[in-house]
Amino acid sequence: MKVVAFNGSARKDGNTAILIRRVLSVLEQEGIETELIQLAGEQIHGCMACGTCGKIRNKQCKIVNDNVNTYIQKMIEADGIILGSPTYFSMMSSEMKALIDRAGYVAMANDYLFKRKVGAAVVAVRRAGAMTTFDGINHFFLISEMIVPGSSYWNVGVGHRKGDVEKDEEGLETMDDLGKNMAWLLKQLKPSNSP
Ligand SMILES: Cc1cc2nc3c(=O)[nH]c(=O)nc-3n(C[C@H](O)[C@H](O)[C@H](O)COP(=O)(O)O)c2cc1C
Repeated sequence: MKVVAFNGSARKDGNTAILIRRVLSVLEQEGIETELIQLAGEQIHGCMACGTCGKIRNKQCKIVNDNVNTYIQKMIEADGIILGSPTYFSMMSSEMKALIDRAGYVAMANDYLFKRKVGAAVVAVRRAGAMTTFDGINHFFLISEMIVPGSSYWNVGVGHRKGDVEKDEEGLETMDDLGKNMAWLLKQLKPSNSP
């Protein structure tokens, strides 16, 4: 079993990455393979609303000069998808929004490519706006016919400067519990593949 995670922060290896890695480390302890992809520094165009994905239905976006088609393929191959984002003006980052809009439209155009995969949102925040970010990512999972595990709190870590979330004990515990619940759910859904 495999979980692929995307960090939508413009800051590589920052708070969102720390929180995601915390979840991934629990998944790995549970015998689940993981991969983290960080979008920092990448130019990811938004959806052009051209509708080509709905006409051609080849599981790809028409825009080919960035990595989104590779990322869609990685999502198709994974059993679970983690989307992590910092909070920017009370929402997800533009990189994460672009990825969601394009991957989401391609998936829906191809009979819901992510159907019944497990999805989890992870959010870093300095002070406010985390819930809008969390909700936005979960709306993507839910309209994609995916299954969303909970944790002991909403999946948010508090911090501003790089590394600050390490001090948010409850945030880190929430990520650990998310990892445990995600692993449990994955094993319920694919028992034959359980390690
Ligand atoms: C453009 C921008 C907008 C931000 N907007 C908010 C915000 O609305 N609310 C908030 O609490 N923090 C906001 N922040 C702070 C980040 O969410 C916070 O520093 C977070 O930990 C960054 O995660 P990262 O290290 O993964 O990039 C903003 C940061 C940037 C760069």
